[in-house]
Amino acid sequence: MATTKTLNDLFLDTLKDIYYAEKQILKALPKMARATQSEEGKAGFLQHRDETQGHVERLEQVFELIGKPARGKTCEAIQGIISEGEEIMEEFKGSPALDAGLISSAQAVEHYEIARYGTLIAWANQLGLSDAVPLLKATLAEEESTDKKLTQLAEAQANVKGKREAA
Ligand SMILES: [Fe+2]
Ligand SMILES: [Fe+2]
Repeated sequence: MATTKTLNDLFLDTLKDIYYAEKQILKALPKMARATQSEEGKAGFLQHRDETQGHVERLEQVFELIGKPARGKTCEAIQGIISEGEEIMEEFKGSPALDAGLISSAQAVEHYEIARYGTLIAWANQLGLSDAVPLLKATLAEEESTDKKLTQLAEAQANVKGKREAA
């Protein structure tokens, strides 16, 4: 069957995808904060949890701008990334490499978000949704800065610690 779906439909579908993903991430971050061993890691996860609340709100503003109800659409990619993180929490519990593993999961989450927001910004520009662009860019900047902080945390502490054998 021929279809008349356009970039507008793609934009809306992807907005629903990342809205669902952000809400899942909102639930996952406190669990990651609880599981992580370093104080700096815990603080980082909790700080990004607060930022993520803002990401959900910005997406709600974008839905409003395009006159659509804010609704999520199941995102299997984020579910998979989050379950891999939960697997690390279980399998590396109490081990020196736990934090290195948790940081790697968190970076997989950030990179998923960075990919989605990058696409949404390009499409919003194409569609002339000029009020949506700064909202999406503000969130993208926070995802990128979180990704960088995670790299620093891994390189400064977690990877070194993870190399040690358990006593
Ligand atoms: Fe986010
Ligand atoms: Fe994020």
